Amino acid sequence: MNNQTIPVITIDGPSGAGKGTIAQMLALDLKWNILDSGALYRTLAYFMLQQHIELKDFEENMLFIKNNFKVKFDPGTIGEPVKVIFNNDDITKKVRTEDIAKKTSDLATDPLIREFIRPCQRDFMVQPGLVADGRDMGTVIFNDAKLKIFLTASIEERAKRRQSQLKRQGSEVNMRLLLQELEERDKKDKERKHSPLKPADDSVIIDTSNIDPVGVIKAIKKFL
Ligand code: C5P
Repeated sequence: MNNQTIPVITIDGPSGAGKGTIAQMLALDLKWNILDSGALYRTLAYFMLQQHIELKDFEENMLFIKNNFKVKFDPGTIGEPVKVIFNNDDITKKVRTEDIAKKTSDLATDPLIREFIRPCQRDFMVQPGLVADGRDMGTVIFNDAKLKIFLTASIEERAKRRQSQLKRQGSEVNMRLLLQELEERDKKDKERKHSPLKPADDSVIIDTSNIDPVGVIKAIKKFL
C-alpha cells in the first residue's frame, strides 16, 4: 500500500501542552496507531546511556544502534502514559524521568540524531492511520499530513500538569525547578537550528490552558 494514502494527524507543541493526552485519546478513539516521537528520542537517549555511547561516538556506533533500536508504542489507557516497548521490555517509567528528558533535549539538537530518527518515525505510518505527537511532526516529518494541530498552554499550567504527572508516577519535583527546566527545554527546542519547535503554517493552533482534554478533542474533530 502506498503510504501517501495513510491518513496522519500531527500534534505538536511544547512540553506539557497536552500533546500526549490528546494524541492518546485520538488514537484510541479513531483506533489508529500512535507515534510518541518524544519517547522515541527518550528511548534513544536511554539506550545510549545504557550502552555507554556518548553523542560524539554516535556515528561509529550507528549500525549497532540501528540493529538494536526496536521501539513500539501502545496507546494504553486514558490517564496512564502511552506505553513504550523497547526490544520487548516495557520501559515507560524508565524513559519518563526528568533526567532522561534533559539528556534527550541535548541529544535532539544534533542533526545526525534527527536524521537517524526520521525514517524510524516514518515507519509508524501504517494503516488505518497515524496520530503523531512531537515537536516537528507537522513541520518536517509528516509535512504532507492532512490535519496538523499545534497545542500551546501557559508555562505555569504546563509545569502544574507535569508536576501532577510525575506525582502519579511516584516522583516529587519542586515547582520552581520544574518551571526552570521547562523554560530551558522550551528555549532549546525553539532556538535549535534543526527542526525548531514552531507551528506549521497550515496548522490549527489550540491553547489548552483553559480547555479540558474532552473539549480539545471536540475542537480537533471539527477539522477531521
Ligand atoms: O515530548 P517529550 O518531552 O517526551 O520530548 C522529549 C524531548 O525530545 C524534547 O525536550 C525535545 O527536545 C525532543 N523532541 C524533539 N522532536 C520531537 C519530539 C521530541 O526534538 N519530535
